[in-house]
Amino acid sequence: GAMNPLLSLTVFWLLPLALMAKEDLPLDCIPRRSVPYHSEWDNARFFHEEGVYNYSTMLLREDEGVLVLGAREELYALDLQDISQKRASVKWEATKKKKEECKSKGKNAETECLNYIRILHKLEDGRMYVCGTNAFDPECNYMSFASQKLTLENVEDGKGKCPFDPFQRYASIMTGNELYSATSVNFLGSEPVLMRSSPGPIRTEFKSSWLNEPTFVSMAQMPESERSDSGDDDKVYLFFSETAVECDCYNKLVVSRVARVCKGDRGGQRTLQRKWTSFLKARIDCPVLESQLPYIIRDAYRWCDSKQDWKGCIFYTIFTPQSDTSDLSAVCAYRVLDISRVFAEGKYKTPVPVETSFVKWVMYSGEVPIPRPGACINNAARNVGINKTLDLPDRTLQFIKDKPLMDQVIHPIGDKPLLVRRGAAFIQIIVNQVKAADGENYHVMFIGTDKGTVLKAVNYDGEMFIVEEIQVFHPPVPIKILKLSNVMGQLYAGSDTGVAQIPVATCERSSSCVDCVLARDPYCGWNKILGKCLIYIYCIFRFSEVIQSVKVGNASLCPDADPIKPQNKSVQQGAVLKLSCLPPSSLAKITWQQNDQALIPSDHLQLQQDGLLIHNTSFSDAGHYRCMSVESSRADKYKTTLLEYWVTIDLSGSGKSDPILDPQAQTGCISDIALQAIVCLLAVSLLVLFGLELLQRPPTSALELFKEEQ
Ligand SMILES: *[C@@H]1O[C@H](CO)[C@@H](O)[C@H](O)[C@H]1NC(C)=O
Ligand SMILES: *[C@@H]1O[C@H](CO)[C@@H](O)[C@H](O)[C@H]1NC(C)=O
Ligand SMILES: *[C@@H]1O[C@H](CO)[C@@H](O)[C@H](O)[C@H]1NC(C)=O
Ligand SMILES: *[C@@H]1O[C@H](CO)[C@@H](O)[C@H](O)[C@H]1NC(C)=O
Ligand SMILES: *[C@@H]1O[C@H](CO)[C@@H](O)[C@H](O)[C@H]1NC(C)=O
Repeated sequence: GAMNPLLSLTVFWLLPLALMAKEDLPLDCIPRRSVPYHSEWDNARFFHEEGVYNYSTMLLREDEGVLVLGAREELYALDLQDISQKRASVKWEATKKKKEECKSKGKNAETECLNYIRILHKLEDGRMYVCGTNAFDPECNYMSFASQKLTLENVEDGKGKCPFDPFQRYASIMTGNELYSATSVNFLGSEPVLMRSSPGPIRTEFKSSWLNEPTFVSMAQMPESERSDSGDDDKVYLFFSETAVECDCYNKLVVSRVARVCKGDRGGQRTLQRKWTSFLKARIDCPVLESQLPYIIRDAYRWCDSKQDWKGCIFYTIFTPQSDTSDLSAVCAYRVLDISRVFAEGKYKTPVPVETSFVKWVMYSGEVPIPRPGACINNAARNVGINKTLDLPDRTLQFIKDKPLMDQVIHPIGDKPLLVRRGAAFIQIIVNQVKAADGENYHVMFIGTDKGTVLKAVNYDGEMFIVEEIQVFHPPVPIKILKLSNVMGQLYAGSDTGVAQIPVATCERSSSCVDCVLARDPYCGWNKILGKCLIYIYCIFRFSEVIQSVKVGNASLCPDADPIKPQNKSVQQGAVLKLSCLPPSSLAKITWQQNDQALIPSDHLQLQQDGLLIHNTSFSDAGHYRCMSVESSRADKYKTTLLEYWVTIDLSGSGKSDPILDPQAQTGCISDIALQAIVCLLAVSLLVLFGLELLQRPPTSALELFKEEQ
């Protein structure tokens, strides 16, 4: 006789959604350009080795100029400039004995009883710490890269650091030499922990109110002790999803969480011995309007401005539905400061038994012990003689042991997603800040999907604009990992089948000023002097003439294009003639003119994706043809002529109908790298002369990216 489960769900979870402004999010946000696999100008590089799979762990070693890559039973050091160049590799296989044991425990010899590299971090001394599943018996190792050689040094136990099961998700970070990991500590994968391995291991309490069948997503550290008025400690944040304990419903409901611990935590003296005394978690919400059930977090990326303190940091996250009923994915962004405040000042939830078996979680309104449960050791604690977590009183510890969940839900910036899109599921996100010609900073999001594509999207004052979608892997496979090197200006994507490297911007794809401006890519600008769309570096090209209008795409700023020289086409009467013309973007509409009159498509004159087809040509088809593109931006509607043709009909019967023309032969001016290099050299000498601005910029600026252009 209880409430309908779905109804109770609805009441419980949908209330906040119903209160949201009913603003329409364009769900079919079309990328302006779709770049097919291995297209002419993508400058992509690939790496994979025969018989090796699951390239899903990466570590950028900009200091060594290598991308360290972890695959199944193998580690690589690849040239960061060109990953197709292998600098070193080392095998790390599970032993025969281990594989046999794994098999005898009922695991699959081909897919599970192998060593999948899962953890790869840099240590303070320059070596690396690497862990693998090792046929369901995780192990870790120290690895060095010296004299172009990768060397594994000495093995240690990996339980609690690395998952047993290669299919299970996990998260980890290394801060200094301290490894924080979130994974399962047992063979069955049923005992989840968030753990710090050293100095003196600390872990979560094994209780469903702490972690309830979690799926770990990602971790990030935050230097919150920096210039802290309250003498606060640095934190480590963990994003995950888990079965909700607080849901008053029958069905299992998965919710997204952010948890955090303090770096200085050493556990309690009696209560919470060698357990976190600072583990707090909160529900994190990304409200997608049409959804019945909360969306689930899949990835989180910490973006921080190197010129500001941690308070300006933002977590960019990806959410997808918990049921397969929709193919929507969303991006939500959260201010670290908002999250931090909830933990520092928010109310707690507390379990109350109702009826017999049910436990309901409600807001705790009783007295909160001092020091505040879950708070880091700060000045307030020190003032009452508590200098470390071991000094914390039992009532504070008992409180946190029972009530690690905050009452408040964490909402995204603007209370809604930045982007919601139908289609290939989003799985990875990276964000890069770019300073555009207008002097403003823009956050460019690179999103990896389960169909092997990378989306490049920017939010312009609330308007989401997808600059392009690049098919990085073919056949399509999910992008398991994404890394970005500002120094190289390159993006690295890993999948089960291989690794790809693509530049953050390929401006040369735009061959005209109008196209370059309408692309609204903050990385690219039209160089008036060279007449080319080139990578735009704020601090350098500010000195020269660049046309860019990322916010509105104002192509009126472009100089008039040179008149187009018509191509002569001669065709035999009665034959089929194809006049090629490719739309410059997915947002452009192609129209044709025949002898300065709008051409009306018919069975005879057929409009195709890539041109115009004239069937059974006759004398009346002769004349002048013009292919035009119309594309709207926020500023205006722009009409440009792409190609012109003079068609003559050969009545003699001896004329040749020429094959499909390459339109690029006419539109021409595609960048040659040599020229670009000259601009760069020029700009560098300019820099030497005017280099003041440069000195003030952090090393992660686009400047480094620029160096690589040479
Ligand atoms: C490893 O790659 C293979 C080949 O693509 C794939 O079938 C398998 O599911 C992958 N294994 C894991 C643990 O991701
Ligand atoms: C905490 O540190 C202060 C100053 O360093 C010291 O006076 C005090 O005795 C310490 N308290 C405890 C409980 O160790
Ligand atoms: C096309 O034909 C016209 C004459 O009909 C001629 O003047 C022109 O030079 C030709 N153009 C090209 C590119 O061959
Ligand atoms: C082609 O056009 C001619 C006249 O221009 C017409 O007589 C003929 O039937 C047409 N052929 C086809 C296959 O449509
Ligand atoms: C676009 O640029 C032109 C030329 O500078 C200017 O007159 C016009 O106002 C601009 N339009 C918008 C919407 O910014």
